[in-house]
Amino acid sequence: MRCTIAGLAVALAIYHVGCSPRPSPLETTGAVTPLPKPVLQGTMSVEEALAQRRSVRSFIDQELSAEEIGQLLWAAQGVTDPRGLRAAPSAGALYPIELYVLTPEGLYHYRPGSHSLGAVVAGDLREPLWQAALQQDALRDAPAVFVITAEYQRTAAKYGERAVRYVHMEAGHAAQNLLLQAVALGLGGVPIGAMRDEQVQRALSLPREHEPLYLLPVGRPAQ
Ligand SMILES: Cc1cc2nc3c(=O)[nH]c(=O)nc-3n(C[C@H](O)[C@H](O)[C@H](O)COP(=O)(O)O)c2cc1C
Repeated sequence: MRCTIAGLAVALAIYHVGCSPRPSPLETTGAVTPLPKPVLQGTMSVEEALAQRRSVRSFIDQELSAEEIGQLLWAAQGVTDPRGLRAAPSAGALYPIELYVLTPEGLYHYRPGSHSLGAVVAGDLREPLWQAALQQDALRDAPAVFVITAEYQRTAAKYGERAVRYVHMEAGHAAQNLLLQAVALGLGGVPIGAMRDEQVQRALSLPREHEPLYLLPVGRPAQ
């Protein structure tokens, strides 16, 4: 059965969330919605997804299903090993990436440990995000925008100055996983790096430690 995130979400409130499986100083106080179990066998090979991937910036006006959103989040940061290891590699397995998804219903934080979404902000934040990221229309038009943020300190505590490069590499791994998964689902997206960081953080009420790095609008390609 296909169902939307709107159908699954119960109550929305502004809140700050913790990220499982690693402890975070932030407390979870809002509604948590389990995501459908990720599918581990698809119909497209990695080679086909690589060959077909192109940046897509125009989308038809149709929301993504909870299955699609869950699958995309899983591809980027899902847990794929009983030890808590994830779909994308991480320096020292410290997992500094924090992933959010913004839909017309609100902003949600991905919780890899339970493959669930925590509600962060109710309402459609695509317009303020579009403003904060140089008015790039894909951000206003896509039915879902995935926001890759990072908590640098998690990696810096072990790797010091090298943490910045490691964290940026990890954001790239996560983004590419998500974009290839989008292709395999018949979806398209574009990685957006041009944004005013502080404005994005404000527009989405992100915790100070979750610094935005990459925006990935995803939808069904127009044409
Ligand atoms: C680090 C990075 C930042 C990017 N930032 C933007 C952006 O802000 N806006 C945009 O429309 N595309 C952005 N892109 C997408 C590139 O424009 C696109 O990948 C490039 O034109 C090659 O096309 P392709 O992705 O279809 O292969 C970015 C790509 C990368 C790797």
